[in-house]
Amino acid sequence: MSTATALQPERLHSIAADPATASVPASNLTQHTGQITLDERVGLFRHRPVTLWLTGLSATGKSTLAYALEKRLLEAGHACVVLDGDNLRHGLNRDLGFTPADRTENIRRVAEVARLFNDAGLLVVTAFISPYRADREQARAVIGEARFVEAFVDTPLDECERRDPKGLYAKARAGKLPEFTGVSAPYEPPATPELRLDTVRFSAEELVETAMGALSSRATFARARAGLSILPGGAKAGSGRAATGKRHRSTRT
Ligand code: ADX
Repeated sequence: MSTATALQPERLHSIAADPATASVPASNLTQHTGQITLDERVGLFRHRPVTLWLTGLSATGKSTLAYALEKRLLEAGHACVVLDGDNLRHGLNRDLGFTPADRTENIRRVAEVARLFNDAGLLVVTAFISPYRADREQARAVIGEARFVEAFVDTPLDECERRDPKGLYAKARAGKLPEFTGVSAPYEPPATPELRLDTVRFSAEELVETAMGALSSRATFARARAGLSILPGGAKAGSGRAATGKRHRSTRT
């Protein structure tokens, strides 16, 4: 049996909560720098690393948009990774629940991981409810203002409840799912997101193009060198349509 299966989330919680075993932050550390500079990475990847941070209620379509955008970016030759709430909660964040403190820790870890990927030169798309403004601002600070693009996936609560693909809103209304965002836990919408993605008026395909437009101006896409041939039916380099840029707001610098 692997040790991974032996460590249950409850056990991880108790380890963290036990003062006798609580760890002390490490000292005597030295930071190392790699041999490849950021400029060299930008040249290699043909884009500046950016994190597109999708925030919104459950069932807005964040994951669908994130993975469609990832495919679009990879087909255009841009290395990209998706960090998705449900997925990370199966691994890195499996010890976390949905209390305000756990959500804050969830977002803190995601921001650190996004920063690592950006430092390596990749584009990052995150899909987390990330309900608290302060946590998203902290993520912006960790990742860096120039790299952070906040995208509000804007779907009214009643539409999310109507969709309810996982049946979670119904459970929450029935009192069987505590601290559910939008029902019994808060969601603080961004006041001034760089991007607003309206999933009621626009299709996923249209929103992916809008996000591509915002990314291409922030990440200053150079013409991609080669499409990734591993993708079935994938478009070749340069075949990506020009970003519409019509509906996205201008980005901050
Ligand atoms: S966040 O609030 O900490 O950012 P995150 O995006 O990681 O949340 O996870 C949200 C996903 O967890 C939802 O899409 C849903 O499938 C699931 N989930 C389970 N319980 C809850 C809950 N109480 N509130 C919100 N989402 C929940």
